[in-house]
Amino acid sequence: MINSRFWLVLLPALLFIWFFFKNLGHPPVWSDEELKQIKSLSIIDLKPPPPDPTNLVSDNPQAARLGRELFFDKKLSNTGTIACASCHMPTQHFRDLLPKGFAIGEAQRRTPSIVGGAYSPWHYWDGRKDSQWSQALAPLERPLEHGGNRTYYARYVIENYKDQYDMLFGFAPDLSDSDRFPIHAAPVDDPEWNSAWQNMTVQDRNIINRVFANIGKSIAAYERLLLPGATRFDNYVEAQLTGDENVDFSYDEVEGLRLFIGRAQCIDCHNGPLLTNNEFHNTGIANAEGEIPDKGRVQGVRELLSDPFNCFSEFSDSPNNCSELSFVRAGSELIGAMKTPSLRTLKPPFMHKGQLATLNDVIHHYNEAPSAMIGHNEAKPLNLSRHELQQLKKFLLTLDSSMPIEPRWLITP
Ligand code: HEC
Ligand code: HEC
Repeated sequence: MINSRFWLVLLPALLFIWFFFKNLGHPPVWSDEELKQIKSLSIIDLKPPPPDPTNLVSDNPQAARLGRELFFDKKLSNTGTIACASCHMPTQHFRDLLPKGFAIGEAQRRTPSIVGGAYSPWHYWDGRKDSQWSQALAPLERPLEHGGNRTYYARYVIENYKDQYDMLFGFAPDLSDSDRFPIHAAPVDDPEWNSAWQNMTVQDRNIINRVFANIGKSIAAYERLLLPGATRFDNYVEAQLTGDENVDFSYDEVEGLRLFIGRAQCIDCHNGPLLTNNEFHNTGIANAEGEIPDKGRVQGVRELLSDPFNCFSEFSDSPNNCSELSFVRAGSELIGAMKTPSLRTLKPPFMHKGQLATLNDVIHHYNEAPSAMIGHNEAKPLNLSRHELQQLKKFLLTLDSSMPIEPRWLITP
């Protein structure tokens, strides 16, 4: 009797002590396969971004310098108060902290970070643009963002950045004849600007379009240089690879990483050194309050194919070499699908309309995997315990980098 009671108490106590020391004392070991997966997520594995043949100045440092000036120039707006940097704020991982971006008015979706964007073949949450340069043109003319028009911008840039423009793109066209080139003209909703545009000759519209495209190409050359810095996670991976045991990474963080690459299946979509596959998925995020469901990628593909500045267009520097665009398709599985965001620029609020306010909301969302309001949620419920969810969250926090670093040569004159 005494004996069995004795064991009844002692066994659990021994188990507890064993478990406690196992967790504390020994760093968990990774199999070779797991180590390979973990390394593939590390910034050590980040190669230079793929070249963009559609933009001949994409890797030109002078273009990046001009692009940087344009990115911060508030005169590139109808009100003189909005620059790209007003929403893509350098101090906030090049995004803002709002559920939906706000400039002249409120945008339809959340401002994504643009750090590491050069690695993606598609831009915007629905991927309706296929290059960074062609993306950069859109906000300049959207009424609620910069709200201006291309003819005005073309003249402004040629007047104020003439030497840089000439050096990069050859002699700038003479736009001084206001009969041929009205002050305001563009194919936009504003009826006056639109009719001024329609009254221009096709040749003159092309002259303006080319300068406009070159503005985008310079901005893209700058954006390509914005990369995330190493984080505590990257230091941990490096330590695992070199056998260094003195690394600041808690037991919970390690177990969170184990869930991320294992049972929680996050790595299926959040993979590679930027933790995104740059593809589109429906993960069952609810609509923003009072809004009809966002069609996502299905609508994005339609807009992409009819975009006058896409890879096939005459403003692309390589219109015969567009394999991504040639094979693009929008099957029904892409209804409501959004581009997987990088997890290296995490800041609340989260998701394409800032629907989830905190990381706790995010991990609970994945744990439950609710049905989608439009299309079909690809993710399945995870059935993780509360403790495991907290471990996952603690791991996500180790991906937060110090400020994304602009190369020093670009900032100093
Ligand atoms: C209202 C503030 C605002 C301004 C000003 C603004 N953006 Fe954005 N940006 C957004 C929002 C919102 C989105 C997402 C829109 C969507 O997906 O439909 C976005 C998306 C992007 C993306 C796509 C990122 C990705 O992950 O796909 C890039 C690149 C970008 N903007 C660059 C720029 C540039 C360059 C400028 C200046 C010419 C600019 N933005 C001006 C709010 C802004
Ligand atoms: C099927 C692909 C897929 C899987 C699996 C997946 N994600 Fe995502 N993730 C996405 C997409 C797509 C979005 C954007 C969804 C939206 O805004 O509608 C996203 C958004 C996020 C965001 C918000 C980022 C931001 O800037 O708003 C976080 C955080 C995140 N995922 C973490 C995780 C974690 C943790 C897991 C594992 C439990 C996971 N994801 C599994 C595709 C996936």
